[in-house]
Order: sequence, then C-alpha cells, then structure tokens
Amino acid sequence: ATAGKVIKCKAAVAWESNKPLTIEEIEVEPPQANQVRVKIVATGVCRTDLFYLYETENKDLFPMVLGHEGAGIVESVGPGVTEFQPGDKVVPLIVSQCRECRFCKSPRTNQCEKAWDVVPHNVSTAPTSKLNCRGKKLLQFMGISTFSQYSVVNQIALAKIDPAAPLEKVCLLGCGICTGFGAAVNNAQVEPDSTCAVFGLGAVGLAAIMGCKYAGAKRIIAVDINADKFEKATEFGATDFVNPKDHDKPISKVLSEMTNGGVDFSLECVGDVKLMRSALESCVPAWGVSVIVGWTDKEDFCARPTDLISGRTWKGSIFGGFKGKDGVAEMVQAYMNKKIKLDEFITHNMPLDHINEAIELLKQGKSIRTVLSV
Ligand code: APR
Ligand code: ZN
Repeated sequence: ATAGKVIKCKAAVAWESNKPLTIEEIEVEPPQANQVRVKIVATGVCRTDLFYLYETENKDLFPMVLGHEGAGIVESVGPGVTEFQPGDKVVPLIVSQCRECRFCKSPRTNQCEKAWDVVPHNVSTAPTSKLNCRGKKLLQFMGISTFSQYSVVNQIALAKIDPAAPLEKVCLLGCGICTGFGAAVNNAQVEPDSTCAVFGLGAVGLAAIMGCKYAGAKRIIAVDINADKFEKATEFGATDFVNPKDHDKPISKVLSEMTNGGVDFSLECVGDVKLMRSALESCVPAWGVSVIVGWTDKEDFCARPTDLISGRTWKGSIFGGFKGKDGVAEMVQAYMNKKIKLDEFITHNMPLDHINEAIELLKQGKSIRTVLSV
C-alpha cells in the first residue's frame, strides 16, 4: 500500500511560460488534514490551461503542474476526511463546495467562501503544494493539477461520483462541459422557444449550445471565425451559423437583422472583451440576457450605458453556476442517463506523454477536447 508514503510518479511540468511541458518523475506527499490524494486516470486539456501557459507573464506561477479537467480514484485520505474512501471515483473541482459558508448555504451563488484559500484561480501557494520535483515545490494549478498521475486535493474541492461512471469521459465535467451547459441553463436561464446566440465553438461553446437546446430554445445561432466548427455545432443543436469573417458590418448588426431585433440570450464562450460587447449588443435591447463565460483577467471591457438601461442584463458565469460537488454528481448522472452528451466532445485520445501535441491541437483549433490517459 502507498498510503502514508511519498509516491513517485509521472507528471507534465511547466517550468516556465511559453515553453513545452516536460514529462518528469515527481514526488507526491501524503495528504494532510482535510486533504485527499487522488490517482488521476484521465484529463482533458482546456483553453484555460493554455491561457496560464502562454498569456501570462507572471513568473510566480512556475514551476507548475497544469490541468484542471480530470477524474480519478481516491488513493488515500488525510485526517478529518470522512466523505471519501480509497477507491471512490472523484472529479477535482475548480469551484469548491464546503457546504458550510454563507455562499454554499445560499441558492443565489455557486461560489464557496473558502474557495480562494484552496482553489485559487491562478495557482496554489507553494507551501501547500504536495508536488515536488528535483527538490523544488511545483505549484498546483487551481489547487488541482490533473496533468499528474497523482495529486493532492482539499476535500472541499472534490466531487464523489457514480462508481459506474467512465472516468475517461466524465473528466470533461470537471470544467468545460459544466461551464458551457450550466451557463445556458443556470445563468442565462434560457427559455423554451427562445432565440440564442453562442459565440465561440470550442468545448465550452458547444456545451452552451447543448444547454440552449436542453432548455428548449427554438433557434440557436452559432458564431465562430473557424468554419470547421460548424459541423460539430449542428450535432449539439445549432440551427444557424455566422462567421464574422463573412461580414463587413458588426456581428451584432448581422444577428439583429437575422432575428428581428436581437436574440433573447447570448453567451460569450471565447474570453475576448470585444466579443463580450458584441454578444451584449446582439441581444434584443428590451430584455436580452448576455452571459460572459470566456475567461480573461487581462483587459477591461466597455459598453454604452444605454445598452443596459434599455433593459438588457449582462452577467458572468463561473463553472456554469453549478455548485461544485452537487453539480458534478448531477451532471455525471445526466450523462449516465443519456440526458447530455460527452463522447461527442472528444476528438482525440492520447497518453499523458503526448501532452504537447494535445496542447498544439487545441491552440490551432484542430481539436475540441483531447482526453489524455494519465
Ligand atoms: N469570434 C468568434 N469566435 C472566436 C473568436 C472571435 N473573435 N475568437 C476565437 N473564436 C473561437 C475559436 O475559433 C474557437 O473555436 O472560439 C473558440 C474557442 O474554443 P477553444 O479554444 O476550444 O476554447 P474552450 O476550451 O472552449 O474555452 C473557451 O471558455 O472557460 C473558458 O477559459 C475558457 O476562455 C475560455 C473559453
Ligand atoms: Zn477549464
């Protein structure tokens, strides 16, 4: 048994920004109080991993183990952990759920007040990381680090899931699919017979389309500058396509003309501040709801006050508004009951060793999701 001992295993380490990851042997310390050591079985590669690898100059982030869309099996638990046992199937969470704080107790948010201590949105602070390599602490991305065969996660940032769930599929519920689907269903609260527009057709945008359809939208307009994505979008329920490159006028004008004054709901699933504004302006002024799903913390956005004064609502969404533990368990069940798709998001499968290839595919827009077997 490995419980209580340091585990030596493989991980993909980011030593600095803008460089390929390197596969290293790392040491993973045993879990401390309230922590769980998880054997990661499968992980997706998400745009947010790339964001922190390429688009941030923050040197304090490295060396780091990226990856936050994974699933695995509990190997051992630290003192005070009662909810998990070795052998449990789990999904690490980017939004924790302690069940005790005022946010967790409120139905108005999926945030957890303790989240920022254990699941910071950039990285875990060095002293709490349990991953080491060549005598150096490796930072744990979002407190999770799924690009590693083992990781140590706080129990509030771990969802227990159906023992029958296929980990190589449900890993995608750790980020992208819950994020997009929930943004439509929980945050936008898409209504039956409504018209929707989804900007950006990566896994997040496609999941948003799936959510719009699930909620009964009549018309779902898919917007992307890469026309290769349109075919996949049809599979998830898109009814119309708009490629901004085919038009000289602003995309909001195009959508407004297509829909007799604007869509009821729009979702920005790219992380581009200009597109966020376009998505807002694409909504019908009287009641349109626009949800920001794409992630960026680099720039300010802008809009005309009258865009909102007229009656539009502009809101943000994190992890699709799902409370971490409850939401993931629920979405795993929805997949098992064939209420949502997951397999269709997976365009590539490969071993962890090929991670740089997986990163390139996503960067070049050639994959929706690569699932790595860890
Ligand atoms: N207009 C329309 N589509 C665009 C534009 C644009 N200006 N710029 C990029 N896109 C499209 C790309 O062509 C691509 O198909 O957006 C899509 C983004 O998809 P992925 O790169 O696969 O990203 P994904 O993993 O889906 O994440 C999207 O959601 O959670 C966040 O951090 C995540 O910000 C990221 C976003
Ligand atoms: Zn993600």
